[in-house]
Amino acid sequence: MPATNGDRGVLNFYAGPTALPWPVIERMREDIADFHGTRMGIMEISHRAPEIEGLLADTAARVRRLLGLTADWEVLFLQGGGSLQFSMIPLNFSAPGEPVDYVDTGYWARRSIAEPQRMGRDVAVVASTAASSYRRVPPVSSIRPRPAARYLHLVTNNTVEGTQFRELPRTGVPLIADMSSDLMTDAFDASACDMAYAHAQKNIGIAGVTIVIVRRSMLDAIAAEARELPAILDYRTHALHHSNYHTPPTFAIYVTWLMLGWIEEEFGGLAVLGERNRRKAATLYDFLDATSFYRCLVEQDSRSVTNVTFALPSAELHRQFLEDADKAGLIGLAGHRSAGGCRASLFNGVTQEMVDRLVDFMGAFEYRNRSTACSRLASATDITGTSSPTTRPRAARSASPRTT
Ligand SMILES: Cc1ncc(COP(=O)(O)O)c(C=O)c1O
Repeated sequence: MPATNGDRGVLNFYAGPTALPWPVIERMREDIADFHGTRMGIMEISHRAPEIEGLLADTAARVRRLLGLTADWEVLFLQGGGSLQFSMIPLNFSAPGEPVDYVDTGYWARRSIAEPQRMGRDVAVVASTAASSYRRVPPVSSIRPRPAARYLHLVTNNTVEGTQFRELPRTGVPLIADMSSDLMTDAFDASACDMAYAHAQKNIGIAGVTIVIVRRSMLDAIAAEARELPAILDYRTHALHHSNYHTPPTFAIYVTWLMLGWIEEEFGGLAVLGERNRRKAATLYDFLDATSFYRCLVEQDSRSVTNVTFALPSAELHRQFLEDADKAGLIGLAGHRSAGGCRASLFNGVTQEMVDRLVDFMGAFEYRNRSTACSRLASATDITGTSSPTTRPRAARSASPRTT
C-alpha cells in the first residue's frame, strides 16, 4: 500500500470527511465506469437490482464479521448522519416524560443531549467532564444511570476534544454508543452495548451513510410499547426492508463495502488494525510528551487514538504553524471551531508514514521557532493576552478555516 494515500503531495489530517486508503480509491476508479462487468458504473445501478441488493447484504455481512455480531443484532445503513441518530434514539426508545440518561463529554455529546430535551424527555446528565473543560472522560465507575432510564447514551470518542473511553460502562441500563469517530478502528466487544452507530466519513467510507448496529431486543421493545413513529424514522422499518425501504445512498454504501473489505484483506480484522492505529497515535503523543513547545490538551488516560489535540505556545505561532503546514501539504490540522488549538485526525485512511512526516514537520517547526516561543514565554504573556508567569499558555484559537 502506498505510504501516503497515493503520494498526491498532500497529507490529509481532516476530521471527516477525510483520507481514504489508496487501494480503495483505485478500486473506486474502476467501478465508477463498470461495476463487476455490468458495463454500468456503481452509481448508475438501481437499488432494486441484484448487484445492489447483493452489495447491501455483503456490506452487512462484513460488518457482522468484523464486529463479531451474533444473529440477535440488526445491521442498518441509514442516512442523516450521526446527527439524525441523536433524534431517532429518543423517538424510538422513549416516550415524552420518560427518563433517558446521557454522559456529557463535550461538543457532540451536548448535541446528542439537546434532542431529547427538545422532545420533552426527562433527561439526566449522569456524568460530565464539563468542569475539567472536557480534558478527560469520566471514570466508567462514576457513570451510574437511573435504574428506570430507558437507555444510557455516550460518545465513545470525542472528535472535537480528542478524548476517548478505554472501556464501556456495564450498568444494567441499555447502552447506546455514538462511535462515529472510532467504530472499526480497533477490536470491539459488542457485548457491552445494545446499540452503536457511526457515520462513515471518518473511518469507514464517505459522507452519506451511517452504520447502526442494534440488538433485536431493542426493536422488540419499540413494538411492545406500540410507539407511533413516522415509518422512515422507525428502526424497525429499515430492519424489515434490509436497509432498502427507500433509495439508499448506494455509492456511500459501496465505499463502506470497499473499506470493510480493505480492513479484512489488509489486516485480517480489527485487532491488527487496532495495533496499527495505536502505534500511529503513540508516535504523535510520544513526540508531544517529549517537547515543551507543543502541549497535548488531554489527560493521559483519556487520550484519543483517532483525534490528537494539541496547542502551540502562542496565537502567533499557532497561525504560523497552520500556514507553514498548509504550504508543506499537511492539511486539516486546525482544531474544531469550538475548541481552538490544533488537531490531527489519524483515522483509518492515515498511514504510519503520514504520521512520521507530521512529526518531522512539527519537529522542524519547533526548531525554527523555539526562540520566538522562549522570548514570548519570558515575557509571560499567554495567547489570551493575560499575564501569567507560572502557567503555560492556553490553547490558541485559530484564525484560519477549520473543519467541522
Ligand atoms: C462523535 C460524533 N458524533 C456525531 C457527529 C455528527 O455527525 P454528522 O455530521 O454525520 O451528523 C460527529 C461529527 O463529526 C461526531 O464526531
